[in-house]
Amino acid sequence: MAKVLITTEMFSEAVEVLRRAGHQVEAPQAGRLSRDQILSRIQEAEALICLLSDRVDEELLSAAPRLKVVANLGVGVDNIDLEAATRRGIVVTNTPDVLTETTADLGWALLMAAARRLVEADRDLRERGFPGWTFIPPHLGVDVWGRILGVVGLGRIGTAIARRGRGFNMRVLYFSRTRKPARERELGLEYAPLDRLLRECDFVVLTVPLTPETHHLIGERELSLMKEDAILVNIARGPVVDEEALARALREGRIRAAALDVFEREPEVHPDLLPLRNAVLTPHIGSATWATRGAMADLAVESVIAVLAGRRPANLVNPKAWSQTG
Ligand code: NAP
Ligand code: GLV
Repeated sequence: MAKVLITTEMFSEAVEVLRRAGHQVEAPQAGRLSRDQILSRIQEAEALICLLSDRVDEELLSAAPRLKVVANLGVGVDNIDLEAATRRGIVVTNTPDVLTETTADLGWALLMAAARRLVEADRDLRERGFPGWTFIPPHLGVDVWGRILGVVGLGRIGTAIARRGRGFNMRVLYFSRTRKPARERELGLEYAPLDRLLRECDFVVLTVPLTPETHHLIGERELSLMKEDAILVNIARGPVVDEEALARALREGRIRAAALDVFEREPEVHPDLLPLRNAVLTPHIGSATWATRGAMADLAVESVIAVLAGRRPANLVNPKAWSQTG
């Protein structure tokens, strides 16, 4: 019997699967564990199921001498010191694929909300009432159908965003680390270097992971390349965008709008973004549907059970650590 520490309240069905597999589970009844609570409970744990907002670093790993696996409830693993985990032979897993379409849906919801000013319109109606149909209302927006979409990071989610764009009869440009000729042919996409993509696109959606290379990928210079009418959507990670530069560009009307699901210093939101009517802000809910969060929990549980039983998990992030487990 191994101890599995879960840092968040989880679906009881998923916890039950771990218990039926013979493991002892420790998890909060509600909410999540604080860092100090994690540090004080991890000593005996052989598996950790954690949130992407839990920092899994040297300090935490060295407080966990028996740890064999860290199962991150999310696809992005920028919260985990992979090098430190691998050095210790600790396997890291994530939850790819099951959240791809759900996150792409949210990306599109944000894009549409910013283009058609849905949040502003809803807020104004509640606060000031519906003044009656007017020909030139205060919420005139921009069209989405038939315009130009740019996807930055053509991975799983980026591809799902691009596919939806084709459904809206859009010309779709993409920038990624590597070119993808097969996907270009299949979906009718055009590769463009980042600067050209920023200059040409009406909508730019960010779907890269956070790495040293993508930190502030969109800063003052990149924002200055975008069209005055362009809309930026960030469903990747907050630090991919220089939030301060973005708030300035939005305030000065140098781009039309932005829609952000992620922030540079979560859960903080840059105070300069809050008063801006041309910013749509959601609290990192890309994968937040009942079905997808259920599938993510199931996947994390499967990974833990596999590693504790000596089987290679399907969604292994650091294969080197697995090869050390021999
Ligand atoms: P993925 O399949 O690995 O796709 C990421 C893509 O980004 C890859 O295609 C990769 O390019 C590209 N890329 C990596 N580094 C790059 C760079 N320096 N420049 C340009 N392109 C680069 O991952 P995914 O499943 O689509 O998820 C992407 C990210 O979305 C996650 O890492 C996470 O941070 C974020 N996410 C957010 C939410 C949310 O709730 N908002 C939900 C899920 C995921 P190549 O293929 O060319 O190497
Ligand atoms: C969410 O942000 C994820 O990385 O899954």
